[in-house]
Amino acid sequence: MKSLRELEEVLPNTYFIQVNGKKILATKSKYPPFYGEKKYGEYREWIPTRSKLSAAIIKGLRPEIKEDTKVLYLGAASGTTVSHLSDIVEDGVIYAVEYSAKPFVKFLELAKERKNIIPLLEDARKPENYSGIVEKVDFIYQDIAQRDQIDIFIKNAEFFLKKGGIGIIMVKARSIDSTLEPERIFKNVERELKKRFDLLAKVDIQSYHKDHVCFYLRWRG
Ligand SMILES: C[S@@+](CC[C@H](N)C(=O)[O-])C[C@H]1O[C@@H](n2cnc3c(N)ncnc32)[C@H](O)[C@@H]1O
Repeated sequence: MKSLRELEEVLPNTYFIQVNGKKILATKSKYPPFYGEKKYGEYREWIPTRSKLSAAIIKGLRPEIKEDTKVLYLGAASGTTVSHLSDIVEDGVIYAVEYSAKPFVKFLELAKERKNIIPLLEDARKPENYSGIVEKVDFIYQDIAQRDQIDIFIKNAEFFLKKGGIGIIMVKARSIDSTLEPERIFKNVERELKKRFDLLAKVDIQSYHKDHVCFYLRWRG
């Protein structure tokens, strides 16, 4: 029999729990495991090596996300992180964009069982193609390892992010330029992002995801 204890609520439906003496991050969920994570009672383990958002929260990020937050998620892949965000924004909605058909097939299974996920098989470089579906949102999350990831993020913010809304972008240095030192790339990215956003936090998640830094931002509109 496992011993289970809730330690701290860090976001809606998101807790550090202790299982058999080990501290883990988890979301409270009505749904079964989705990507091989364990479920302890009603808590779904949120694995930091599988999800950059989990890694950032473990490293101290506390984004302003509420139960009814409206999210635009760019780079959904098969839905690992979206599945946890869906537990968090249980009265909100997640418009989730992914352009690759292969992971999208698995992602559709998730979207079918959850009421708050709207899957979009689209290219995030072309927000005009989904502007008829996506409404104004409170939060844009982006995890796409592309050379032009900053332009994509800003373009989507211009289309969809409410003034004062928040953004999280997971930046992979080597996707932007494999010849420069990652620290130099992160500095350049920060300068670009600050032209349009206020920087709220910068979280180094390289111990879980090589070459990645998480930028947490507020859109000036
Ligand atoms: C690192 S994976 C995302 C993992 C996912 N965010 C998670 O944590 O569960 C990056 C994804 O972005 C997608 N992607 C890359 N460029 C894209 C674009 N221009 N439009 C839409 N999706 C894109 C890739 O196909 C890939 O599935």
